Amino acid sequence: MSKITVVGAGNVGATCANVMAQRELAAEIILLDIKEGVSEGKALDMMQTASLCDFDTRITGVTNDYAATAQSDVVIVTSGIPRKPGMTREELIGTNAGIVKSVVDNVLKYSPNAVIVVISNPMDTMTYLTLKAAKLPKQRVIGMGGMLDSARFKCYLSQALQAPASDIDGVVIGGHGDTTMIPLTRFAAYKGIPASALLSKENLDKVAADTMVGGATLTKFLGTSAWYAPGAAGATLAEAIIRDQKKTLPCCVYLDGEYGQKDICIGVPVVVGKNGWEKIIDFKLNSDEQAAFNKSADAVRNMNNVLSEMKLV
Ligand code: 2OP
Repeated sequence: MSKITVVGAGNVGATCANVMAQRELAAEIILLDIKEGVSEGKALDMMQTASLCDFDTRITGVTNDYAATAQSDVVIVTSGIPRKPGMTREELIGTNAGIVKSVVDNVLKYSPNAVIVVISNPMDTMTYLTLKAAKLPKQRVIGMGGMLDSARFKCYLSQALQAPASDIDGVVIGGHGDTTMIPLTRFAAYKGIPASALLSKENLDKVAADTMVGGATLTKFLGTSAWYAPGAAGATLAEAIIRDQKKTLPCCVYLDGEYGQKDICIGVPVVVGKNGWEKIIDFKLNSDEQAAFNKSADAVRNMNNVLSEMKLV
């Protein structure tokens, strides 16, 4: 019998819980929020869809009651403020770092063995904070960003190729920032055929550019950041863990020399199973890709420095 906790019942957390319930990933999902009534209301609304959507997962909403989250196998952290139009994810660091640190401390009191999935922004830095502050084995902390960015990459590729997204391969590595993520256009493919053989360079470059601002484009429309794709990306990552799928997914993990980087959490392809991430797929990037990756790592490291200035790590 498995149990998953989602901390933060905002749009992303609630969507994530909803997708996980519909896929029956766990017997029990706890949705926790600091605001009285929000998680209780959203959990009840989801439970009222159980007979319509044909699931047996129990979803319980709680206000700040970490005892209710005890013995979770996976904890998904979505807490923090979302970005507003014109804001970067990086601008959220001061507020969200304090929130994420206290959430993780509370979570681990009751679920010391959980795998922690980080969604809160700036995601790479919040993943690093979670790992360092909680002193967990590195495999048990995974940031979700690359899965979301890769889903957006596949969405734009599918539109350009006029093909179903499920027939498309596309991977985004690097930081989860508008200027730091790296859509690997060289490996994008439609049913094994390189996208570069099917799209002009100009079109493929546009797909990559649209991917990089995929979140910002939505934020402009909505006045707040996205939730359907971030929530589904978190649920798909949780599925790989809870079902021990050993899938290779682009996620933010701690590097210790892989891709030429050390002491940083950043997006790379990893094999994910019940213990968290089990293996980094460390392959040789070409010189342009490696240069972009190094630049991305520098930007993430600059953000991580704010954590030490705040004395959080
Ligand atoms: C996004 O890219 C919220 O970081 C999330 O939409």
